[in-house]
Amino acid sequence: MSYNLLKGKKGIIFGALDEKSLAWKTAIRCHEEGAEIILTNAPVAMRLGEINKLAEAINAIVIPCDVTSNDDMLNLITKSKEHFGGGMDFILHSVGMSLNMRKGKSYTEIDYGFNQKTLDISATSLHRLLATAMKEDAINEWGSVVALTYIAAQRVFPDYSEMADAKALLESITRSFGYHYALKKHVRVNTVSQSPTRTTAGSGVKGFDGFINYAEKMSPLGNATADDCANYIVTLFSDLTKYVTMQNLFHDGGFSFTGVTQSVIEQMEK
Ligand SMILES: NC(=O)c1ccc[n+]([C@@H]2O[C@H](COP(=O)([O-])OP(=O)(O)OC[C@H]3O[C@@H](n4cnc5c(N)ncnc54)[C@H](O)[C@@H]3O)[C@@H](O)[C@H]2O)c1
Repeated sequence: MSYNLLKGKKGIIFGALDEKSLAWKTAIRCHEEGAEIILTNAPVAMRLGEINKLAEAINAIVIPCDVTSNDDMLNLITKSKEHFGGGMDFILHSVGMSLNMRKGKSYTEIDYGFNQKTLDISATSLHRLLATAMKEDAINEWGSVVALTYIAAQRVFPDYSEMADAKALLESITRSFGYHYALKKHVRVNTVSQSPTRTTAGSGVKGFDGFINYAEKMSPLGNATADDCANYIVTLFSDLTKYVTMQNLFHDGGFSFTGVTQSVIEQMEK
């Protein structure tokens, strides 16, 4: 169902890799709600070609951008302004990658070169995006920026490894930059802390099946789905949430505030 919540709004969506991606679902929902969208991803991810299917379905253009490159970021922002004929109203940062996890290095033995790259891709990139947008005056008054995060920023989930540190930094940048962008142009910046979800990035976490089943049992509403995550992000891009900024918003079926559930107690008693 569509409520026209984003009618007339324009935005950039980072990170739609395939149809499981949180960004993919969000792009479809934003389009259904009336938004005009530009899609972007790393050039290497775009070579897989999937993103073109999405672009066609939602009548979007695609502009490549490796989020670790200042030049790519500037190019994305300037080309987007040209395409839209002015500023944009929302941006979704749905980007994450851990080089140490990919190379099978445990948290206590990380390679610091890989670690720097992980932090750059998964967290500092949000700063680069906001700083470039601010410098180019690319986000309209009362615009909204959302980045996706995970509760490992607050609590230990051992197999989430260095990504926990990356998410803590991402959430800190959200608060710090959110302050400056609010003063400058009433732009709001928030993170959505999503339940574990079966996507390419999600399934890269060691022991993911156990992880997702545990979260399901520990969430009174059950794990939040990717489609529901997209719905929530739409509300944050809409004018109905204008005074929400600098927040980390849990979208997790109640997991973050649950000590234990009956289902987990029963499991422990077996
Ligand atoms: N899936 C989960 O369980 C879960 C839970 C909470 C938060 N998140 C977060 O949601 C976001 C989206 O992940 P997803 O689960 O949809 O997986 P995904 O693999 O579909 O998306 C990750 C995206 O990051 C992009 N990316 C990686 N390096 C990049 C670079 N250098 N430049 C530009 N883009 C780059 C990938 O191409 C991909 O599109 C991530 O920040 C992830 O940490 C995921």
